[in-house]
Amino acid sequence: MAQHRVVLLPGDGIGPEITAVARQLLEAVSKRHGFELSFEEQPIGGSAIDATGEPLPASTLAACRSADAVLLAAIGSPRFDTLPREKRPETGLLGLRAGMELFANLRPVKIVQALIDASSLKREVIEGVDLLVVRELTGGIYFGQPKGRIEADGDERGFNTMTYAASEVDRIARVAFDIATQRQGRLCSVDKANVLDVSQLWRDRVDALAPTYSEVEVSHMYVDNAAMQLVRDPRQFDVLLTGNLFGDILSDEAAMLTGSIGMLPSASLGSDGPGLFEPVHGSAPDIAGQDKANPMAMVLSAAMMLRIGLNQAGAADELEAAVDKVLAAGFRTGDLMADGCISLGCAAMGQELLKAL
Ligand code: IPM
Ligand code: MG
Repeated sequence: MAQHRVVLLPGDGIGPEITAVARQLLEAVSKRHGFELSFEEQPIGGSAIDATGEPLPASTLAACRSADAVLLAAIGSPRFDTLPREKRPETGLLGLRAGMELFANLRPVKIVQALIDASSLKREVIEGVDLLVVRELTGGIYFGQPKGRIEADGDERGFNTMTYAASEVDRIARVAFDIATQRQGRLCSVDKANVLDVSQLWRDRVDALAPTYSEVEVSHMYVDNAAMQLVRDPRQFDVLLTGNLFGDILSDEAAMLTGSIGMLPSASLGSDGPGLFEPVHGSAPDIAGQDKANPMAMVLSAAMMLRIGLNQAGAADELEAAVDKVLAAGFRTGDLMADGCISLGCAAMGQELLKAL
């Protein structure tokens, strides 16, 4: 029987609640599909700071690196916002991405028919949207040096560096090109080449690779225009290729096309080694511990883990079908609640998902 070792990182806020739901579903679905999952929970983020003083204990990173796949819920709490940067929860997450060398972040955005009226955009704009944001995850301004704060001429200055090596652009662009060949074959690379040198390099490298992927239609778009086009006519996009910061911003925007960021999963991958799978949403400290969270993005992240990380496509299909089924039956968490639907908490939603398997 196939066996997979999964590290679970519940993290902060709503993290433990949605992790409990995902774990139950993974246990159920693995039994039905004849493979075994072993789970090991590790601390990260604020809960790790409370337990160990560090947002990413060395033991957590080591466990993740030697797992078959890692499923992370969410990190962060306003309680830690005043700590020095190296002690904050977010630094733990960035350290995990860097430490596992996960340079490619895939964020699929697909409209669920049952939720079409949950979006703040008109039905005719979003119907049929099916796009994928491919975000570079271990470079760019998030990691660029030099950075910091200095006193200069009686003033204080804060600065970061947006920098990409050609090799970094090439490896993320190849991921996006490869995926585009398996989708509709359209790749839109997003940059700010009208202003930034780093973006001009980005654009030149994408253009240099384009001839080797003759079946992919390549276009370039400035990030400000991309932000506008995402709400004006999102159907024009198939694969969006972006750097770290632009991808962070555009993926939240794209998430809202679906009505709730509580629906969107993501996968972070390196060239080898285990992948990290996590919802796009954060830890939602305002509703933490109240059984109000939407566990669906976490469940869909678990499905991505099964499909991409563990090669268990049949089980992944089943989890995704369960989400569709429960939504079609009218069950909703608070973030998606609409007239005529049945309102459920996080745990009860988990039970409905289990029944729907
Ligand atoms: C995301 C988040 C993170 C990021 C934060 C929590 C550091 O917003 O995964 O999109 O900026 O990458
Ligand atoms: Mg973000």
